Amino acid sequence: SQATNLRWHLSAQRLSLAVLVVQNSVLVMVMHHSRNRPTGSSPRYYASTAVLLVELIKLLASLVLTTHHTWRNRRDARPSELATLVFQSVFAPDSWKLIVPAALYTLQNSLVYVAVSNLDAVTFQVTYQLKILTTVLFSIVLLGRSITRRQWLALVMLTVGVAVVQGSGLIGSGNWLERLTLLIRGETLPTSGAFRGLLAVVVASVISGLTCVYFEKLVKDSLASVSLWTRNVQLSFFSLFPALFIGVLWQDGASIRRDGFFVGYDALVWTTISLQALGGLVVAVCIAYADNVAKNFAASLSIVVSYAATAVLFGTPMSLQATAGGMIVIAAMYLFNKPASRPQIGLLPVSQE
Ligand code: C5P
Repeated sequence: SQATNLRWHLSAQRLSLAVLVVQNSVLVMVMHHSRNRPTGSSPRYYASTAVLLVELIKLLASLVLTTHHTWRNRRDARPSELATLVFQSVFAPDSWKLIVPAALYTLQNSLVYVAVSNLDAVTFQVTYQLKILTTVLFSIVLLGRSITRRQWLALVMLTVGVAVVQGSGLIGSGNWLERLTLLIRGETLPTSGAFRGLLAVVVASVISGLTCVYFEKLVKDSLASVSLWTRNVQLSFFSLFPALFIGVLWQDGASIRRDGFFVGYDALVWTTISLQALGGLVVAVCIAYADNVAKNFAASLSIVVSYAATAVLFGTPMSLQATAGGMIVIAAMYLFNKPASRPQIGLLPVSQE
């Protein structure tokens, strides 16, 4: 019934956003440590292999989910019929539409590795929040959405709040603003890779905004006929090609042939890969059942959560600056979603395009 559907939609929305908050908090820390080991430890793994494995895991998971979905609608189908149905839905005539987002996401995922390897966790997290703005801009330009002046204000507050929490240097170390100023002035570069890392994260943010808006439109336009998991199978399937041919074989081919595919792999690397695969699937649910802007708000909230978690788990005293930053983020989220005048983008009401 419609009421059950709506309730289901709402719980999928809230659960996916909550999971994303936790996933995002843990991922950045784990990933940073997986890339930046103390000198003298085992060699660093090749990012291209991780990008490929993440897509493989997401492909398998989405395949299982889409098969389950198909089976629920056709419980009488024999396994071979089920396989045919799944195959037909995945390679439907419009599946080519996923080629572009697949290529863009693969590039984005590779750039994130470049960024994380060359920047400290703080600088990366703050700069990556640029995707909040790029997402809103692409939503306005490509989806014809509009946001109120109050929502613009909320976005600015959000950016400021995140920067304030991060600038307090509790999650990582170093003052990003100082570094950024130095970098822009071209004075002493903190590390030689910093510019490379910064450029990577800026380009990744632009790609993120563009691609998630495209994906949101594609999924929501056809959610009634094509399930989200079928879309994700298509997305991961087309991602395998650039990930394998451009990343693993072309970019890192010679080194991987010399050192082996799994060089430098350990529990931390596998945790990074699993968390990324999980994150991709959760992002997909957030985009389909909430929207892109809500997804990015969840990611920002995760910065506040990781700050609070660090303070509680490791007994670091909460600084005034970080607490204030966290409150600005929460106030921004409230301001953006305040239902008084209905927002065009936002968590309430449930979007039912
Ligand atoms: O934060 P952002 O939305 O840019 O994160 C996108 C991430 O989610 C990418 O790693 C992308 O590969 C993944 N993703 C996915 N499936 C989707 C949408 C995004 O795996 N349907």
